[in-house]
Amino acid sequence: MHRIVDRNHIAGRRIVWSRWVVFLAIVLAGVVTSLAPTEMAIAKTRHRHGVTPQIINGTPVPPGQDRFVVALLDMSRGPTQFDQQFCGGSVIGRQYILTAAHCMEDPNLLGHLSVLVDQVELDSGAGVVIDVKSAQIDPNFDASSIQNDAAVLTLAQKIPRQRSQRIAVDGAGDGALTQAGDSATVAGWGNTNPDQGPPDYPTHLMQADVQMVADTDCATAYHGNFHQVSMVCAAGNSPSRDSCQGDSGGPLFADANSAHPVQIGIVSWGNGCAQAEFPGVYTRLSDPDIASWIHQVTANHAPKKHRG
Ligand code: ARG
Repeated sequence: MHRIVDRNHIAGRRIVWSRWVVFLAIVLAGVVTSLAPTEMAIAKTRHRHGVTPQIINGTPVPPGQDRFVVALLDMSRGPTQFDQQFCGGSVIGRQYILTAAHCMEDPNLLGHLSVLVDQVELDSGAGVVIDVKSAQIDPNFDASSIQNDAAVLTLAQKIPRQRSQRIAVDGAGDGALTQAGDSATVAGWGNTNPDQGPPDYPTHLMQADVQMVADTDCATAYHGNFHQVSMVCAAGNSPSRDSCQGDSGGPLFADANSAHPVQIGIVSWGNGCAQAEFPGVYTRLSDPDIASWIHQVTANHAPKKHRG
């Protein structure tokens, strides 16, 4: 009898204990996933034109360039687009925006999420603002490792034809555009101050040229946190150029000045910004799994075009 009672007692404790583990795991996951929004919750400080560098050591994007870059606006953050902007994105179809999955972690975001399209200057009044109807997260996104950091937003309305310039997604699977040393461009409204100073956000879209970093070098910098299948690294030198907080979700693209730029990455994460030994980490769009997921999400309702 005694033994049986003891057994039950132990089994009961084991259940309680395992519930604690689940509870702790949930709390820990909450702490980890709340880090990115907390970074952005810091009140934005306006960029002093001409005084500090842009993106990190980039240049303002002239109006009419990089028209596929959009700002994600969280309408609950304040009255101005400057207050509302918290991530970037890119137009990959008249109704589809590609961004980072980690930009979508606030479960209440969808009720007040819009995008600013075809406008380099926040609060200019001349951009197109469209509500987001739904968001799909890459099924293999993992919030703690930040693997497969990709999401596709479906807009409530199509972008007007004249205002819509889409960018092609790499997806070739051959990594032809991501060889070490290849040039690429990254754009966004993110922090322009490297870590040492307080964050300083621009009102104007910024871009910087960076070079693709060899996977082995990125793995050396980040050890096991660099997941080569779904991530790719890029950085610029002398002066150090990089994306930073607030640029997340925005595009890293090749052939910036051609008629057919190709998006090869999504701004995802990094250790600080523009630190020589730590490149920026981007979602690798040439990964066949990520690319085919994006294709599948955006091609669902489109009639198939005949070729040849
Ligand atoms: N996680 C940041 C964001 O949410 C992007 C950081 C990019 N960091 C870098 N060093 N490239 O905006």
